[in-house]
Amino acid sequence: MQKKIVAYKALPADVLSYLEAHAEVVTIDPKDADALRAALKSANGAIGASVQITPQMLEGATNLKVLSTISVGYDNFDVADLTRRGIILTHTPDVLTESTADTVFALILSSARRVVELAEWVKGGNWKASIGEAHFGVDVQGKTLGIVGLGRIGGAVARRAALGFRMNVLYTNRHPNAQAEQEYGAKRVELDELLAQSDFVCLQVPLTDETRGMIGAAQLKAMKKSAILINASRGPTVDEAALIEALQDGTILGAGLDVFEQEPLPTDSPLLAMKNVVALPHIGSATHETRHAMSRNAAENLIGALDATLTNNIVNPDVLKR
Ligand code: GLV
Repeated sequence: MQKKIVAYKALPADVLSYLEAHAEVVTIDPKDADALRAALKSANGAIGASVQITPQMLEGATNLKVLSTISVGYDNFDVADLTRRGIILTHTPDVLTESTADTVFALILSSARRVVELAEWVKGGNWKASIGEAHFGVDVQGKTLGIVGLGRIGGAVARRAALGFRMNVLYTNRHPNAQAEQEYGAKRVELDELLAQSDFVCLQVPLTDETRGMIGAAQLKAMKKSAILINASRGPTVDEAALIEALQDGTILGAGLDVFEQEPLPTDSPLLAMKNVVALPHIGSATHETRHAMSRNAAENLIGALDATLTNNIVNPDVLKR
C-alpha cells in the first residue's frame, strides 16, 4: 500500500515531487493544529519545522513511524516519548553548519562594529560630519572568543575566528574537540574561565534541561564589562530578563541575538529599544541555498527512514534496537 506523508510546512516544488514519487503527500497548514493532529492519525511519516509536536498530538497516530524535522534543533519534540512509541526522529545537522556559522559571525561583527545602529543612523540623515569616538566600536580580530558548546556549528565558528580573524578560541564542551584544538588552537576550559576571559561569548548549545537558563545573572556578571554575548542557539538558554538588566546597567557591553525566549520577539521587548543589541528574526540557516538543502535532506531522511535504509541523521537511534 502507498505510504502517506504529512508535510506541515510548504516545501520547494522539487522536494515535493521527490516525496510524491515515494508516497501520497498531504500538505497541512501548521497553524491548523486540529488538522495536523487528524492528518497524523493516518500518516506513516511527517515532515516540517517550527511546530511543537506534543505527545498528545501523537495519540492515535498508530501508523506513524518517522518524524523528519527540517532543522538541526529538535527541542520541538519529546524524544523519549517518540522512542517509547517507536517513532524515529530525523534532523538535518550538516547542511546548515556553514550558513549558521556565517550568521553567528554576522552577529559578532555587527555588534562589535555597531553596524546596524550606525547604518540606521546614516539612513536617518544624521551623518553630517566625520564620525568621532562616540561612534567607535571595538575590535574583533585578535580578541578572545569563548564558544559554549563546540559541536558542528561551534567548530565552524571557531574556524572563522581562528583562521580568518586570528582570534584566540576558548570553548566548553562535554568532550574535547581534537580538530578544533589542533587546527584552530582552541582551548577547552571551564565555563567560569571562559566567561571571565572572553571578549565575545557565543552560545552554541542545543536547548535541553541542562542548558535551559545556563546564562543567567551570575554568568553575565562573571563576563567582562567590555564583553558581548552572542546567541544564535535557542533563546531559553539565556535568562532574558537577566540579560536585559545586564545590558541596561552596563554589566556587559552588548548582545547579538538571533533567538529569543519568545519568537517572534514581542514588539514591546526592551531589547528592541537598546542600541547595544543587534536583534535578528531567527535567521540562523535562512539562505535560499541552505533552506533548500535542508528541505531536500529532511525529505531524503524521511524516505530513507520509512524504507529502513537510513543510517545517519537519526536523533533517537535506540528506536531501531527495539
Ligand atoms: C534552526 O534553528 C535549526 O534548528 O535548524
